[in-house]
Amino acid sequence: MSQEISNLGEMEGEVYWPAPEVTAAAHVKEYEALYKQSLEDPEGFWAERAEELEWYEKWDEVLDDSDAPFFKWFVGGKTNIVHNALDRHLTTYRRNKLALIWIGEPGEHRTFSYFALNRNVSRFANVLKSMGVKKGDIVTIYLPRIPEQMFAMLACAKIGAAHSVVYGGFSVESLAERVEDAQSHVLITADGGWLRGKIVPLKDIADEAMARQPTIESCIVVRRTCQDVYMEPGRDYWYDDLVGLPIANTKCATEPMDAEDTLFVLYTSGTTGRPKGVVHTHGGYMVFTHTTLKYVFDIRDEDRWWCAADPGWITGHSYIVYGPLLLGATSFMYEGAPNYPYPNRWWQMIEKYGISILYTAPTAIRGLMRFGEAWPNRHDLSSLRLLGTVGEPINPEAWRWYHTVIGKERCPIMDTWWQTETGGFMITPLPITPLKPGSATRPFFGIEADVVDDDGQPVKEDEEGYLVIKTPWPGMLRTVYKDPDRYREQYWDKFETMYQTGDSARKDKDGYLWIIGRMDDVIKVSGYRLGTAEVESALVSHPDVSEAAAIGLPHELKGNAIHAYAILRDGLEGSDALAEELRNHVGHEIGPIAKPETITFVDTLPKTRSGKIMRRLLKARALGLPEGDISTLED
Ligand code: PRX
Repeated sequence: MSQEISNLGEMEGEVYWPAPEVTAAAHVKEYEALYKQSLEDPEGFWAERAEELEWYEKWDEVLDDSDAPFFKWFVGGKTNIVHNALDRHLTTYRRNKLALIWIGEPGEHRTFSYFALNRNVSRFANVLKSMGVKKGDIVTIYLPRIPEQMFAMLACAKIGAAHSVVYGGFSVESLAERVEDAQSHVLITADGGWLRGKIVPLKDIADEAMARQPTIESCIVVRRTCQDVYMEPGRDYWYDDLVGLPIANTKCATEPMDAEDTLFVLYTSGTTGRPKGVVHTHGGYMVFTHTTLKYVFDIRDEDRWWCAADPGWITGHSYIVYGPLLLGATSFMYEGAPNYPYPNRWWQMIEKYGISILYTAPTAIRGLMRFGEAWPNRHDLSSLRLLGTVGEPINPEAWRWYHTVIGKERCPIMDTWWQTETGGFMITPLPITPLKPGSATRPFFGIEADVVDDDGQPVKEDEEGYLVIKTPWPGMLRTVYKDPDRYREQYWDKFETMYQTGDSARKDKDGYLWIIGRMDDVIKVSGYRLGTAEVESALVSHPDVSEAAAIGLPHELKGNAIHAYAILRDGLEGSDALAEELRNHVGHEIGPIAKPETITFVDTLPKTRSGKIMRRLLKARALGLPEGDISTLED
C-alpha cells in the first residue's frame, strides 16, 4: 500500500498521505509557501498565471476594486477564451491530438482532434452568424450530453455571443423562464437524448417552452434519437442541413473580446424566487479555470480526463468544456446513465479508454457502491491516477470505497468545493495534500476562505459558522444578469467585504475545512442545485393547489431529497393519486430531478407574522428535532 493511514503524525483524525511518486510528479510540490505568497500578492500571482495564456492585448490593471463588489479583472486586456481553448493549439502538435472522445449511451463512438473540433465550431459559428446572432446576444442551448453541445458553446463564444446552457434534464418551465430572462432569439436543441435506453423528448419540451416564451425566432435541432418530431416551418431547422450549407464554411475569425465581456450566463437556484443568471467573463474565468484544473488535477498531455458531470451545469462548463481545452487536454464524455445497461458501464469505459482521472459526484459514487465491489473488480482500473468529487459533502464511507475499490489506495481524491458563482475550485486538495475523508481540505491559491459567526468574526476551531471568501478572485461571478441589486443582496450584504457562500462549514485544528451544507433554501438533490421556491411555484401552478412548501431532508443516495407540503383549494381532498399527479406535474414543469419524494396534504403551513413559510420548522418537525426559536410564528 503506497499510502499509509496515519494517526501518528501531527495531524488530527484519519489522514491519508499522498504517495511519494505522486508528490514527486505533481505540478505544485509545495503548498504553504505558494499559498502565503498568493495571498500577500494576489495580483502578482494571478498576473503570472494569466501570462501563461495568450492575449490580443495585455491588461492595464489586474484587479479593479474601485466599484466593489463589482470587481473587474485584467482590465483593458483583450482576448477570447476560444482563442486559448482552440486557435492557439492548431499551430502546435495538439492540432492532431484528441480533444474529445465521446461515447453515446447506445454505444457509438465519436472522436475529435483539436483540428476537427475547430472545424465543427467554426461551421456552427458561421451558422449562428447567418441567423443574425451577434456580440452581446444570449443563445440558449438545451441539448443532451453530445459533442454538439461543446460545439455550440464554443461557437457562441467564438463570435462574441454569450451562451445560456439549460441542463437537458430540466423541463418546460425551467427552459421557458431561462429563455425569457435571457431574451434569446436562437435556441439550440435536439430531437432527443438517450437516458437508460429511453428517449428524453427534448424537442417536444422545447416546443412547449417556445409556445410559452415566443422570443425564439430560430430553433436549431440536432438529430440524435431520430424519432419524428414537429418542425415548425420558418422557425425550426435541422442542424445537419444548416452545416451542409455553403455559408457554414470552416473558416471563422475569433472575435477579440474585452476581458470583462460576458462569456456566459448560467442560471442557478437561489434563496428566493426564480433562478438567477450568474454572469462569467472571458478573461478572469479563463485564467481561473486554466489554473485550477492544471494545479488540482495535475493535467498532463498523456492524460485522459473524464469529468462525468453534464455541460449544463457549472462543473461541465468549467471542467468538461473550457478548462480541459485551455490545457490542450483529452476529454472523455459519456452521454448516458452510469449503470446502464449494467452497473459496470463506467468501469468498463475506464478500462477500455484508459481514463487516467475521474471526476464525479458523491451521489454517483454512492449509487454505484450499492451494486457491490464485484462490478468494478471485473475491470482493470490501473490507468487511474487521480480521482475527484464535487457537488455535496462526501460521506467518509463513500470516500473510502472510492479510494479503496476504485483508486486501489493509489489515487488521491480531490474533494473540490466550489459553486456556479465561483467559476472554479475554491477549497480543494492538491495531489500533494494529506487527505481527510469528507474534508475539502484547504483553500486554493489566492483564495482566502474562513468560517465566521453572525457578526463576521471567525468562529472557534471546530465550531460551525458561515463559510465566506474574504478577497476577490478572477473566476468570481461579476453580477446577476439584469439584476445587480440581487447580486449585492445575495452575496455581499450580510458581511459587506466578504463573499457569502450560503454554506455552513467548520475548520479543524489543522486548518482543514469541512463543508456542512446549505444554510439557505437551496437543496442539493443528487448534487443538483434546486430552490424550494421553484418547487413551490411549480406546485401552485397546478389548478388544485393553493399553497405549497418544500424542504430538503437527508436521503441515503441523493444526499437530500425534496419533501413537499400542499394546501389544496377549497373542497378538494388529498389522495395518493393526486399526490402522484402533483409529483409528475413538478417533473413536467422543472424536470424529473425536482419531483418531490413525498407530498403531504395539510390545512395550514407554519408562517412568520410577515407571512414567510417557516421551512426550518417544517424540517425540524419532519426530523423530530427541537423546534428552536418559534417566537416569530404567526399562531
Ligand atoms: O453546498 C455546496 C455544494 O454545492 C453548492 C454549489 O452548487 P452548484 O452551484 O450547483 O455547484 C456545484 C458544482 C461546483 C455549494 O454551495 N458543494 C459543491 N462542492 C462541494 C459541496 N459541498 C461539499 N463538498 C464539496 N466538495
